[in-house]
Amino acid sequence: MDESVSPQTLHSRTLEAVAEHIKSGRVKNVVVMTGAGISTSAGIPDFRSPETGLYANLARLNLPYAEAVFDISFFKENPEPFYTLAHELYPGKYRPTIAHSFIRLLNDKGILLKLFTQNIDCLEREAGVPDDKIVEAHGSFARQSCIECRQAYPEDDIKQHIAAKSIPRCHDCNGLVKPEIVFFGEQLPAAFFASRDLPRDADLCIVMGTSLTVQPFASLPEMTRKTTPRVLINKERVGSLGSGTDDVLILGDCDDGVRKLATACGWHDELESLWAKT
Ligand code: APR
Repeated sequence: MDESVSPQTLHSRTLEAVAEHIKSGRVKNVVVMTGAGISTSAGIPDFRSPETGLYANLARLNLPYAEAVFDISFFKENPEPFYTLAHELYPGKYRPTIAHSFIRLLNDKGILLKLFTQNIDCLEREAGVPDDKIVEAHGSFARQSCIECRQAYPEDDIKQHIAAKSIPRCHDCNGLVKPEIVFFGEQLPAAFFASRDLPRDADLCIVMGTSLTVQPFASLPEMTRKTTPRVLINKERVGSLGSGTDDVLILGDCDDGVRKLATACGWHDELESLWAKT
């Protein structure tokens, strides 16, 4: 490849060309952007898939509209639907998917610059992706606090409430306690804004398992340089992915897509054994 040409241009918009790019040693800084689609094979529904998505299955909670379950004003009026759902979604009973292990493998290979995730299931961490490489753009169940006085709330106490489907209240001011998940109407964590320019430093961008519906996360793939190849591993085309000169679409199941890419990179056995250990 003539190095005077932009070194990050793929020789073709194919999975094999992405693998060549990685094997060439030119890829040193990968940014990964993920959504609920990488956790569906772990048994956690995504949000918007017709029939199977969470928002299509919340009738039992009698919500005014599906997203109300994650709306801060609605939560303040009626926290019950959220805590009913939290009982089903709380981390600890789900195993990371091979897509999570693929992200861990990128870090083990020393080429993961940053993982931006919208997921609140903490499965990236459970797969062994180091904390300092993860930006949980929509927060997670990892911490909880009072929405009135901001006092941190003990993990053991919230686990008991979630198991019992009861509503935890602050030990200090009796305010409502909420896991530090970003609800509609709340600000994203400072860590997101501090890292949102990082895609500019990437030499490969991988977007997986997201509809790219919710801003400002959905704009992250636009932050990459024009010469940075962007790979979409997703059941459907989303956002502007596919329109860039170096965009590669691997449409279909995330687990199949990462297996194919890992195999093309010569990492099949490493990935499978990594996942087997989660
Ligand atoms: N393999 C590949 N793609 C999948 C799979 C799978 N196994 N399962 C689902 N998908 C795709 C869907 O086709 C869809 O494009 O993943 C995407 C999931 O989109 P959403 O359900 O909208 O989830 P997400 O993008 O994470 O939602 C973003 O919306 O409600 C908010 O805060 C919530 O973080 C969430 C945000």
